[in-house]
Amino acid sequence: MAGTEADSGAATEGAVEAALDKLDLDAKTRLLAGQDMWSLPELPQIGLKSLVMSDGPIGVRGVRWTADDPSVALPSPTALAATWDPELARRAGVLLAQEARRKGVHVLLAPTVNLHRSPLGGRHFEAYSEDPYLTGRIGTGYVTGVQEGGVGTTVKHFVANDAETDRFTVNNVVGERALRELYLAPFEAIVANARPWGVMTAYNTVNGTTMTEHHHLVNEVLRGEWGFDGYNVSDWMAARDTVGALRGGLDVAMPGPQTVYGDALARAVREGRLDESEVDEAVRRVLRLAARVGALADAEPAVPTPPAPVDGEALAREIARRSFVLVRNERAALPLKPGTVALLGAAARDARVLGGGSATVFPARVVSPLDGLTAALPEGTLTYRVGADPTTELAVADKGFALRAVCRDTEGTVLGTGSAPNGQIQWMGSDLPEGVTHDTLHTVELTGTFTPRESGPHSFGVKGTGTFTLTVAGTTYFDGLQPPADDSDPFEAFFGAPVPRAQVELTAGEPVDVSLTHVFVLPEGVPFKVIAFALAHQEPQRDEDELIAEAVEAARAADTAVVVVATTDRVESEGFDRKDLTLPGRQDDLVRAVAAANPNTVVVVNSGSPVELPWREDVAAVLLTWFPGQEGGAALADVLTGAHEPGGRLPTTWGSLSDAPVTRVAPSDGELPYTEDVFIGYRAWEKEGRTPSYPFGHGLGYTDWRYDSVDVTGATVTVRVRNTGERAGREVVQIYLAPTERDTGRPARWLAGFAAAEAGPGETVEVTVDLPRRAFEVWDQAAHRWLFVKGSYEIQVGSSIADRRITATVTV
Ligand code: BGC
Repeated sequence: MAGTEADSGAATEGAVEAALDKLDLDAKTRLLAGQDMWSLPELPQIGLKSLVMSDGPIGVRGVRWTADDPSVALPSPTALAATWDPELARRAGVLLAQEARRKGVHVLLAPTVNLHRSPLGGRHFEAYSEDPYLTGRIGTGYVTGVQEGGVGTTVKHFVANDAETDRFTVNNVVGERALRELYLAPFEAIVANARPWGVMTAYNTVNGTTMTEHHHLVNEVLRGEWGFDGYNVSDWMAARDTVGALRGGLDVAMPGPQTVYGDALARAVREGRLDESEVDEAVRRVLRLAARVGALADAEPAVPTPPAPVDGEALAREIARRSFVLVRNERAALPLKPGTVALLGAAARDARVLGGGSATVFPARVVSPLDGLTAALPEGTLTYRVGADPTTELAVADKGFALRAVCRDTEGTVLGTGSAPNGQIQWMGSDLPEGVTHDTLHTVELTGTFTPRESGPHSFGVKGTGTFTLTVAGTTYFDGLQPPADDSDPFEAFFGAPVPRAQVELTAGEPVDVSLTHVFVLPEGVPFKVIAFALAHQEPQRDEDELIAEAVEAARAADTAVVVVATTDRVESEGFDRKDLTLPGRQDDLVRAVAAANPNTVVVVNSGSPVELPWREDVAAVLLTWFPGQEGGAALADVLTGAHEPGGRLPTTWGSLSDAPVTRVAPSDGELPYTEDVFIGYRAWEKEGRTPSYPFGHGLGYTDWRYDSVDVTGATVTVRVRNTGERAGREVVQIYLAPTERDTGRPARWLAGFAAAEAGPGETVEVTVDLPRRAFEVWDQAAHRWLFVKGSYEIQVGSSIADRRITATVTV
């Protein structure tokens, strides 16, 4: 087999060299620059198709930001990591490759393998874990799956892009040891085990050098030490300097058409600031990518025949239920016993299935908890009440609106119309309705009707910057300029808060006309043409105490109360960090009041990352469901009814913000020092001697397990566990390595391996885990190399970092 692989590798390299030989300098430099938001130019002279990239990571959005072009939406990356199942991540990858192919996408801009350094990180939901080993294993599965489907990946964001505040400029000051042992480690593992075809370099600076110019980390470490042979694409608008970026190992500057490459790069060569051979290196890597994904004629793609089709909805549901973490289950409150259920919480009806920002995709359908439980429970046993609403601000107008976009020129003549199934316009690059060009476009009007589901004062507003006119039911409420709140982030229009502009008394069921007109002006400082704004809306705000009282009444009358609490896209999103970990609105009050009325209160937490659960000891059960993807409600019904057990284990410690050891995300004077060194996540909680609400690795199923024995032969650990409960189940057997000689520089213990045991009631099964050599190594900062630390270690085996059941001692 090895011979065959080498032959095909040599054939690819041959095709790449032959293609390179035929290109002149201008063609080469054009190839390294985005031609628009998502693609590179085609070069017909060498049979090269335009390479298309798309986000990532829970689905494949495609080149259009619209609900017109739906995508399967899988659970959030935190959920995928909570499965502790690299094979499931691989299957997710195969599905995503299928989605990419369907949408003509060659490279998926994923996975995000930055670490959960602080729970306040805005993109926490989009990364896997606080632990580099678990992150590396899940990321390896994911990349393997996508690439088995013949589609490329860009492991991102290389490196230390662990928070959002000032992300374009922040200088993260990270010690060499923390970089190696934590932040680089997942990238290293994925490069070694999945051979990714791409990497994306981050916006931020690390130790004084911006990542798109980081010669040391990119050329010396990633390519030199690790042997990465893929291409390196900048994060969107991260490349700043032509010579600096090329010398720093950046191959492709995205997006286009204005970039630091293209003409600017050709000029740099002609003026003698760079050598053409340096450009050739980058072009070679892009051609290699093209060969792998089948976009270069004369080269055999890495995957000539795509894998068998995958059922996306079924897989989304399977991953969701396997990711749900049951952190508390007193008196076996779950699975539900036969009886009546009061389902409470706005998020039970309007589920939050994915996190905000570039990770957004538009699924064809969303199964809410209310939909899922209505379908699963016997008729007449379920009641629903709103109880409390997490949305304390206006949100994109997507419920009850029937809108379309009308584009006009300066004369008011209609140039074309586009659909706008929700109230958001996000047209990037050449993605414009037919007949419309940036040169002729003057205004975009979102127009149509709104049919309220409730009577009362409805709020309307505008998200985005520029000139707007807002008219509701014939009255113009706003006609003026909405300036940017934060000039430093060019994506303000995507991530900024909606501004309320009108309050209108409306009647349930009676449609009214709505119109929001935006005057198009090319944004300054943005290298691509973008039109982004949204109509925002908020339903009449009912008296909050009354809503809670109604929920309490329903809870009292039911056998079980299920309360769904959630965050919103104003809490968890790309573009900003979180301010705190509290649940928005009156949700905590709702849970307390319901728990006081019904001892069988089950709380379902719908958030991508940790939130504080101050009432957790007062309720019977707590189930964390992350952002569960489009099939979340169906999966929830599977788990609540007991058709399946919840399979998740915490990939990250959950605790209160005041106890969390590492929280800082905001730089001062442009610098964010990672002063905690290698102590993040559980490493830090243990060092500080603090007890979190729920420890790393924790999660209950519906059966019980006894840990019988652990044997260690060489680096192989064999564990025997017995299912002592009454139903079949799956246990994630976790192996922690604890140095017997405590030295202050190392954590008390760290995750060194894991494996799943599946067994029927009364059955005993054995799992084996090979401990990686790296588990015994530390980075020697003085010698700049890995050091194998000899000595005696305890192998601690259990079902969380805090629940270690059996141990063995090894001396290495
Ligand atoms: C994000 C990337 C994303 C890119 C393209 C950036 O703002 O940081 O993760 O892939 O946009 O959407």
